Amino acid sequence: MSVLSGKKVLLGISGGIAAYKTATLVRLFIKAGAHVQVVMTPASKDFVTPLTLSTLSKNPVHSSFYNEEDANAQWNNHVELGLWADLMLIAPATANTLSKMANGNCDNLLIATYLSAKCPVYFAPAMDLDMHKHPSTLSSFELLKKFGNIMIPAETGELASGLSGEGRMAEPENIIAFLEKDLESKLPLKGKKILITAGPTYEAIDPVRFIGNHSSGKMGFDIASKAAELGASVTLISGPTHLKAKNPVINLIRVTSAQQMYDECHKHFKDMDVAICAAAVADYRPKVVAAQKIKKADASLSIELEKTQDILASLGKIKKNQFLIGFALETENEIDNAKLKIQKKNLDLIVLNSLQDEGAGFGKPTNKITFIDKDFVVEPMDLKSKELVATDIMNKVIAYYEK
Ligand code: CTP
Repeated sequence: MSVLSGKKVLLGISGGIAAYKTATLVRLFIKAGAHVQVVMTPASKDFVTPLTLSTLSKNPVHSSFYNEEDANAQWNNHVELGLWADLMLIAPATANTLSKMANGNCDNLLIATYLSAKCPVYFAPAMDLDMHKHPSTLSSFELLKKFGNIMIPAETGELASGLSGEGRMAEPENIIAFLEKDLESKLPLKGKKILITAGPTYEAIDPVRFIGNHSSGKMGFDIASKAAELGASVTLISGPTHLKAKNPVINLIRVTSAQQMYDECHKHFKDMDVAICAAAVADYRPKVVAAQKIKKADASLSIELEKTQDILASLGKIKKNQFLIGFALETENEIDNAKLKIQKKNLDLIVLNSLQDEGAGFGKPTNKITFIDKDFVVEPMDLKSKELVATDIMNKVIAYYEK
């Protein structure tokens, strides 16, 4: 899955012949899963039509502050556009537009939007070779880079003038590859290895029956997706669930029983930076698993249970530098019980679910959690979707590494 997936991309097009390539560029962004809005300078419309770009981007194209021919014309809000974007790309960036960007010469919607943007801004220069090496252009490059903008260098080859040299806009495929590489290198959890447990475990009674619970696994899978999105390398160990990993980079290991989950966790834990145990592991399992299906011969049946190993506590015992997060599901004395679990299992952070809170718990799309850290700082959170809870949990991990 591309790092551009779900990103809001604002493409600014200025008036150079390379503008015709932006149709392909928009296609590639959409293919990568990005949302695209386009801002054009008036001159760029001579090289590629707004209709082409609005069709490909599935959004209206903006090119002036308002449409003079429309009696009900609305103001195109450049500030809103600038704030909407996760990233802005000016491609092609002509010598004229680069100079205006460098000097804040705000005479069109594209420059006004650029000056309003709070997101990272990339620019892909495109011009003839002599323009490209002119001192005034070079000084625009330097100024723009000094302001924090990122240059996607022009390529060398045949130019519209018939000359050959440096100045061609980077090919759309190369622009996408450049952006992906740059964004990936800046992800906050790049290089971190995270182990996550999810779902229920099934403890066999006989070949056809088991003891299980209602955990859907959604919380753990959402944490795994978020962690992968933030650049972590994720190992997700899940009990039986119908869920699929959303991101193909997640290493999903499916297990059935608590013992199998324990074994897989211990196989991987040593190499991990973070472990998050979100699984609802069975606390007990049948002491003896019947080899054949148990017949209903008697009026009642007793099954002797024995304790499973506590995976989280066992990881707490052997942890070195790992940041260890556990969950607690409580029905009474929630905070005190959760604090006891932090100490007993040697955790850095616990995510407390109280069944007294509406919207929390198994099988629901929402969760209401309270964070308690190892210094017993208690932080209650609002009721929110499990995806947003996953974001809150990953923000705790990011904050730990930023300390
Ligand atoms: N856990 C685990 N292995 C087990 C049992 C629990 O790794 N055999 C983990 C869960 O993944 C969760 C945490 O321990 O992160 C807390 O689980 P919870 O059921 O709330 O608590 P328990 O420790 O089992 O204690 P109790 O049931 O007595 O409240």
